Amino acid sequence: AQNRRPFVVANWKINMMPDQVGPYLDTVLPALVGETEVEVGIAAQDLYLSQMLQAAKGTPLVIVGENSHWEDDGAFTGETSPKALAALGVEYVLIGHFERRKFFNETDETVNLKTLAALRNGLKPIVDLDEDLSAYGHLVPEKVILNQLQAALDGVMVAEMAQVTIAYEPTWAIGSGSAASADQAQEAAALIRQSLANLYNRDLANNVRILYGGSVTPKNAPAFLCQQDIDGILVGKAALDPRQFLTLVDQAK
Ligand code: G3P
Repeated sequence: AQNRRPFVVANWKINMMPDQVGPYLDTVLPALVGETEVEVGIAAQDLYLSQMLQAAKGTPLVIVGENSHWEDDGAFTGETSPKALAALGVEYVLIGHFERRKFFNETDETVNLKTLAALRNGLKPIVDLDEDLSAYGHLVPEKVILNQLQAALDGVMVAEMAQVTIAYEPTWAIGSGSAASADQAQEAAALIRQSLANLYNRDLANNVRILYGGSVTPKNAPAFLCQQDIDGILVGKAALDPRQFLTLVDQAK
């Protein structure tokens, strides 16, 4: 859509054993040689990032962290430093994934702080909006997404927005096998883009990429990818198979 480059991101979560990482990349990387049309990323747990960066060197694959902290460094046992991620060579980081919000008590406020910290350190945040109604009680879905968007971007400058990707992943579609309909997802993406135009300006809004995530498979991906305001997909389960992931990349062309 527009001049926005399609972006296909696998999110491995904490799947994949150490001995699976190499073979996965051995399947994917040769197929990506010369790929310029679609940007292709894999989000993996920190354990594998160095190995992946090494393997992906000189290839179009971008490596994505799954989380990073709001402080650059210090006494935060078990957290991931955005400064260290950037220094390692990681380019993108997921911020505020639904599972982080649900299981690790991330709030709109911490998502905002983490977004700012990622940008401050030169990481490109993929900010996740999840439309989790249970967390907001009385609000209608549209309002939940817009509140999350506005909160996440509080204090993010116009110039920094060029580094930001938004992912719309409705809670009920994640890992459930029942994806949103393409129309539903397009409606949400259009709403997000309109809100970006209100918060910043129309030109900026037209340049921000918005991804859909939640039970994407090669079967339903084409319908999402041809929507006007959907610029890519964030894929969990279906992307655990490297060949399926490559199919999804092809479908984004
Ligand atoms: O970040 C992507 C993820 O939350 C969606 O997972 O398994 O429904 O594709 P899945």
